[in-house]
Amino acid sequence: MKNLLSLESLSAKEISDIVDLGIKLKADRLGYKPLVDQVWAMIFSKSSTRTRVSFEVGVRELGGSVMMLSQRDMQLGRGEPIKDTARVLGRMVGGAIIRTFDQKDVDDFSEYSGVPTINALTDEEHPCQVLADLMTMRELQGGWEGKKVVYLGDGDNNMARSWIWASERLGFEFVIAAPEGHQPSAEYLARLQNGTVSVISDPKAACENADVLYTDVWVSMGQEDEAEEKVEKFGGYQINRNLVSAANKDALVMHCLPAYRGLEIDEETLEAHSQTIFQEAENRLHAQKAVLVEVSKFSA
Ligand code: CP
Ligand code: NVA
Repeated sequence: MKNLLSLESLSAKEISDIVDLGIKLKADRLGYKPLVDQVWAMIFSKSSTRTRVSFEVGVRELGGSVMMLSQRDMQLGRGEPIKDTARVLGRMVGGAIIRTFDQKDVDDFSEYSGVPTINALTDEEHPCQVLADLMTMRELQGGWEGKKVVYLGDGDNNMARSWIWASERLGFEFVIAAPEGHQPSAEYLARLQNGTVSVISDPKAACENADVLYTDVWVSMGQEDEAEEKVEKFGGYQINRNLVSAANKDALVMHCLPAYRGLEIDEETLEAHSQTIFQEAENRLHAQKAVLVEVSKFSA
């Protein structure tokens, strides 16, 4: 695996190997240094707490060093094409970790740089987050086999899509509960073949027999103009005592963070499940180190 551009582009084995390796690296945090002498570039065009810190710490723990580049300070921000930026950086860095808007920019960077490229969130997908979430399910529920994961809120965003592909590849049941207009398009769903993903607008019905209730912010970065409409439409999809009571008794409540209390989840539920939620956040580090170990095998 040379790149992590999306979960769609990974096989079931690649996903499951990353989770296994993440668990090993968590148990022996500083014992492995395959990135010695490598400098990795991080190009971030959106805000980040978890992704930025976990990648900076992860690269360093694996023996490498990182350079944080914001689009604002680069010629990229003044109109230099991504393919030219990629061809320059590709001659210098061991690999790149990119958070941006357009998935095509990450794909193009990978193509033109020739170095391992990791999607640290685009409007299309957030694969690193779902790898950490799968690792958390493995730790807390023994895995994803036979599980039902219910995703509530914006069903047509990067998190929902990465979960869709995790379900398609790994075979667990994935239900999106979202209002009409915020569900994945029929065209998108037509790309799936395995019948593991379904979409419903009734949040309570969706939660029945759920093993995991998952949510994300209602308003993703770059979509702030949709805030008013979403807050109005999404009220019934808030994870709270009422929806948790419909799920299995020992269901996990998960959130990729940052959390907006009172919107996608209430304070009481977030705090009651904070152990799980912050374990997911910690697992960003371990799962991404596993990704770095795999893709760095292709660094020059
Ligand atoms: N969950 C996540 O990606 O968090 P950040 O936006 O803080 O990186
Ligand atoms: N869907 C959110 C995820 C944040 C980690 C966003 O893109 O802002």
